[in-house]
Amino acid sequence: MTKRRVGVLISGRGSNLAALIDACRQPDYPAEIVLVLSNRADAGGLGRAAEAGIATAVVPHREHPDRESFEAAVHSRLVAAGCELVCLAGFMRLLTPWFVSRWRDRLVNIHPALLPAFPGLDIHRRTLEAGVTIAGCTVHFVREGVDDGPIILQAAVPVLPDDDEESLSARILAAEHRAYPRALALVASGSIRIDGNRVRTAGSTSPEGLLMCPDEALGLRPAGAL
Ligand code: GRF
Repeated sequence: MTKRRVGVLISGRGSNLAALIDACRQPDYPAEIVLVLSNRADAGGLGRAAEAGIATAVVPHREHPDRESFEAAVHSRLVAAGCELVCLAGFMRLLTPWFVSRWRDRLVNIHPALLPAFPGLDIHRRTLEAGVTIAGCTVHFVREGVDDGPIILQAAVPVLPDDDEESLSARILAAEHRAYPRALALVASGSIRIDGNRVRTAGSTSPEGLLMCPDEALGLRPAGAL
């Protein structure tokens, strides 16, 4: 089986990266991570990648005079590693249209909200303040707008009455760790196509785009295969 070569961009602890690394260990998983790149030398995820024997790179944004030259450096590292797909996993730099267009339909992000609700930062506080009862995460293709682009998969979790930012973010993060590997598998296996702003799952009528986690909390059965 030919695995798609994936680069992962991180800025921090790298728990989503760790979930992707675990998934890629499965022999029948359709992707392999060939490069983990961070804009910060102190990103915890770099250690996780090194432990897994994955090549790492640091491209410090502060050492570049502007966004364009930073992105050109990131792009050339990805190309040199032979990356076919790029996953953003807690990468805390906004990307310019130049970079986004280079990787169009091959650049994926995870966001800890049910987009298009709550784009941007400070998601968990805003989620609690808004009083919503269902939160979650979204894996989507990246377009020029912030946290915008065709949605590959969403996972929903309940907001419980006693939640604070810590408990809510932990619940959403657990959903992220299930959703991202599943979404990357869909992209890497070529079983989805992009139709305008919508992602279609080829040859399937099942609701691949919906994962309910944790299913126990709501008494729901998971709709997806996880
Ligand atoms: C995650 O919540 C992700 O959704 C957001 O940044 C966070 C990264 O966490 N984009 P980690 O570094 O993967 O642990």
